[in-house]
Amino acid sequence: MPLSIQHLTSTKQLTRADTDAILKESAKMEAVVAKGGSDLLKGKILASLFYEPSTRTRLSFEAAMLRLGGDVITADGLQFSSLYKGETIEDTIMVAAQYADIICMRHPEQGSADQAAAISPVPFINAGDGPGQHPTQALLDLYTISKERKKVDGIHITMVGDLLYGRTVHSLSFLLGLYKDVKFTLVSPKELKMPEKVTSFYKERSIEFTETENLEDGLDADVIYMTRVQKERFENKDDYERLKLKYILEAKHVKDRDITVLHPLPRVGEISTDVDALPNAAYFRQVQNGVFVRMALLAMLLQKS
Ligand code: CP
Repeated sequence: MPLSIQHLTSTKQLTRADTDAILKESAKMEAVVAKGGSDLLKGKILASLFYEPSTRTRLSFEAAMLRLGGDVITADGLQFSSLYKGETIEDTIMVAAQYADIICMRHPEQGSADQAAAISPVPFINAGDGPGQHPTQALLDLYTISKERKKVDGIHITMVGDLLYGRTVHSLSFLLGLYKDVKFTLVSPKELKMPEKVTSFYKERSIEFTETENLEDGLDADVIYMTRVQKERFENKDDYERLKLKYILEAKHVKDRDITVLHPLPRVGEISTDVDALPNAAYFRQVQNGVFVRMALLAMLLQKS
């Protein structure tokens, strides 16, 4: 089943047929990795452009391309690129497209991914645009939920922490909106509530959601999705210091419950390390799923192009 899109900048572009196809292809990629990789993308090059820090997204995109027999060229750090000299995003993408068959980019400005996709002659994937979207994270979150809970329709998910600036919870909300009877509990300080662009989406789709400042209100769910308070988005560092560790999930909260613990990572204290050994802790499995999902996306977008 081919994807309906040429570029991926937002989960709002995706249809249920797209997500079904991506989940199916991701499962096939697990088998490809288990047998030592493939040469499906031999001769193809990924340009991996990271103008904001990343560990997982960058490494997993690059690992995904290598697992499929392709090659990777990279540029990282705004100060080491010609963007720093004033080159536009559009020119940067046109240049990268002369070297590569597909591009992924992380950039600190919201909207930068749409600018890039509008000009890119090769498939373009948003690897995070400021506080905007992080669609590939949401897809790997979806894949993890489907594996851990054996379903997506009907799940109750609690999202905790920085729901204002955390782009992963925005992207995941739009994606889960494609599924039936999904319910959200949103736990955050009032300064970091889910933005209107997402809550209006819930309302348009008649999706049930509850907002609270109390972590305990969110423990009766199928999935708890913890997030980091996004230090890099705060203008006032005192506000960050005040809010950064309002919610800390500990083993006592989840050990006797059938609840799956997810986190896009990095964590900076929001999940106590005593949770790590519990069967509920799925965040390192979630990391591994990132490679399978990104393999699927690279293959599907390149086959389409
Ligand atoms: N989850 C995620 O985007 O991690 P990185 O910032 O390390 O890529």
